[in-house]
Amino acid sequence: MESSKIRHIAVFTSGGDAPGMNAAIRAVVRTASYHDLHVHGVKWGYEGLIDGRLERLERRDVGNIIHRGGTILHTARSERFRTPEGRKAAYETLKAFDIDALVAIGGNGTFTGAKVFSEEFNVPMIGIPGTIDNDLYGTDFTIGYDTAINTAIDAIDKIRDTADSHNRVFFIEVMGRDSGFIALNAGIGSGAETIMVPEVAASVEDLANRLKMGFKRNKLFSLIIVAEGCKSGNAQVISEALKGHFENLDVRVTIIGHLQRGGSPTCMDRVLASRLGRAAVEGILSGRKGEMVGLVNNQIAFTPFDQAIAHDKALNQDLIELAEILSM
Ligand code: F6P
Repeated sequence: MESSKIRHIAVFTSGGDAPGMNAAIRAVVRTASYHDLHVHGVKWGYEGLIDGRLERLERRDVGNIIHRGGTILHTARSERFRTPEGRKAAYETLKAFDIDALVAIGGNGTFTGAKVFSEEFNVPMIGIPGTIDNDLYGTDFTIGYDTAINTAIDAIDKIRDTADSHNRVFFIEVMGRDSGFIALNAGIGSGAETIMVPEVAASVEDLANRLKMGFKRNKLFSLIIVAEGCKSGNAQVISEALKGHFENLDVRVTIIGHLQRGGSPTCMDRVLASRLGRAAVEGILSGRKGEMVGLVNNQIAFTPFDQAIAHDKALNQDLIELAEILSM
């Protein structure tokens, strides 16, 4: 499809929801409308594409959603889209609705599907990074991440009050199956004593020694932030193992969990989503396809899907050192 022939696009959200997805949908619809394109919204991600769950979206349909968490288009993780039959059905839907190009808002799994589908059927697709994990290469920030870390520090600040009152050691587990962006940044932002992330090996022995040193310095309570994908185990497992190193240790575990996925997006996330939504549509119009749009050094940048999903986005080494220095 020549970009000059693109008249009709569809947008969908897929994978885990993230605050700011609605702001991105709004930006896609309004930018498309500005350029005289028709837009359909696909409900429930790839599942809806397979089942033909599309609805026309006009400018006014995306009014009053910029501040809302979740996604008005709903989302899903689709097993059927992994099969050639599922993808063929999705392509039939695109033909039936006369859709020329797709905008996919999601994370790693979403762009893995997008890469296969867009190559298989030569469908122009642009991805917008929407995941609280911030684990996509090709963008400094993903939509939803800023809101998630602010939700996390709000919760950690509250736990600090009770940890201080009772002289307790608190393990606080944050999301991040494969990456420690949320743990590292929420940990530094909340002044946690120890931060455990999947990217950095850590032993329970080291943790026990750290705590003992802290007790010697009259540190009466501790906040330990654990990313759920930490290689030494989750917060519950590590806390149990830690108890073996002390005679009496007053330990509690809090798992913040899906609270981090909901809520009204921060201004940072709304602006990021608005910029990326616009860039996705204008990227399609300028002939781009098979790429994720992101923000690198505060500039719009496009990265091929295979690089966005295959390259590991490394944690900032300075931040790892900073956490170490400040917690001593
Ligand atoms: O990818 C976003 C994320 O919230 C991860 O941090 C977490 O591991 C996972 O999704 C949880 O997924 P589910 O929606 O299946 O609970």
